[in-house]
Amino acid sequence: MTIAITGATGHLGRLVLDELRRSRPAGSLVAVVRDAARAQDLADDGVQVRVAEYADRPALVRALAEVRVLLLVSGSEVGQRVDQHRNVIDAAVEASVQHVVYTSAPRADTSALVLAPEHRATEELLRASGLTWTILRNNWYTENYLGTLQQAAETGEIVAAAGSGRVASATRADFAAGAAAVLLGSGHEGRVYELGGDTAWDFDELAEAASAVVGRPVTYRAVDASTLRTILTEHAGLDAGTAGFVAQLDLDIAAGLLAEVTGELSALIGRPTTPLVDGLRAAYSPAVEDSPA
Ligand SMILES: NC(=O)c1ccc[n+]([C@@H]2O[C@H](COP(=O)([O-])OP(=O)(O)OC[C@H]3O[C@@H](n4cnc5c(N)ncnc54)[C@H](OP(=O)(O)O)[C@@H]3O)[C@@H](O)[C@H]2O)c1
Repeated sequence: MTIAITGATGHLGRLVLDELRRSRPAGSLVAVVRDAARAQDLADDGVQVRVAEYADRPALVRALAEVRVLLLVSGSEVGQRVDQHRNVIDAAVEASVQHVVYTSAPRADTSALVLAPEHRATEELLRASGLTWTILRNNWYTENYLGTLQQAAETGEIVAAAGSGRVASATRADFAAGAAAVLLGSGHEGRVYELGGDTAWDFDELAEAASAVVGRPVTYRAVDASTLRTILTEHAGLDAGTAGFVAQLDLDIAAGLLAEVTGELSALIGRPTTPLVDGLRAAYSPAVEDSPA
């Protein structure tokens, strides 16, 4: 059985490939990438590397030849993703792929989360495709907060507009293990999984974890969204659109949109998810920054 992964040179895609290679021969795995040079290590290891940009449907059809199961890792170009994902799904139909697994967002069908609409639209495309599918509604990556840790290391503060909202984050490695379990397992057709960490933390707890990781006292300073936007544009150099987007994500957290703990990820991977402080410690280095997209 050939399994393909889009976004295979991305953070999540690489981790999924690592998981699959524990039990599957490299030659049975297809890495769909847009830049072959960045996948040279995968090709050297025997993974089939096929080049396809999401805008190029004929290339996607060629890339999915002989593929039985596809993991469509949601794209990172916010605003363009519905058309891109439509191309991948249409190509999967044309290439006679049997089953598509898609990485979505928490409660994407009903959530007011600013990122939900593109995921909701993609889920609808999948349901209408005639393919069998599984939807993995991934909560936040713990690694989204590496930039926050960097800031905390420099200032001793985490400044956010998340109020007392909670986030049921898990590490990318946890989500990758969940995706691999679905890709390799059976009985997942037509299932929607709400995946996230076993514990939902608030920003005081994030500050506590940051303190342990960066090695200095860190406190959470809760601000309103307008203050956060001003800080991000005037002090952090973000453009107004990006600052507004970041502030909206915080408001979504404050509204509880990422707080749900379901236990479905730990059930899929057969172990507890990685605790916040451990996930941050494993990923943090003083030079690293990351942010949600
Ligand atoms: N749950 C969360 O907290 C969270 C946070 C961030 C993102 N996400 C979502 O989860 C996805 C995976 O996360 P990640 O950390 O692995 O993100 P990532 O490292 O940015 O990976 C995104 C992948 O998508 C590929 N891609 C983007 N645009 C493409 C295009 N036009 N054509 C072909 N490939 C394209 C990228 O290719 P290149 O390798 O060539 O760049 C990359 O491999 C993201 O794309 C985003 O949808 C979720």
